[in-house]
Amino acid sequence: MNTQFDDLIRNALGARLQAYAPYSRFAVGAAVQCKSGAVFTGSNIENISYGLTICAERIAIGSAVAAGEREFVAIAVVADTIEPIVPCGACRQFLAEFSADLIIVSANGRGGPQGRESFSSSCGPEARNLKNVHTP
Ligand code: THU
Repeated sequence: MNTQFDDLIRNALGARLQAYAPYSRFAVGAAVQCKSGAVFTGSNIENISYGLTICAERIAIGSAVAAGEREFVAIAVVADTIEPIVPCGACRQFLAEFSADLIIVSANGRGGPQGRESFSSSCGPEARNLKNVHTP
């Protein structure tokens, strides 16, 4: 299937090759398309504590933010799965910090089905406006 995000998926597949996943052996790659047009990539980085593992999506967004980007259009996530992979809850919260609306595309790079989701979140900073909250 050819989509407008094929290039982004290719970038994510390239990033997946750099995954540091000696514990799960499950390599994931991500690539985020910024509103500026720039693309940043990430792969998962595991830790022996396991809890400190960072998903590919958060690495990609982190590199983009560290380079000054704040607005994102889409993120591609790839792994060698039959069904397209989807970002975990922690990554969704992280994505929501910067983009309430984002397209999430996923693929396995082997011609399997592609996933596409319009991520819309109410968990970002805009939802933390507490001025209408009254305490007794
Ligand atoms: N992982 C990601 O990098 N992204 C996801 O969307 C799902 C899970 C990583 C975390 C861990 O290194 C491995 O995949 C197994 O969960």
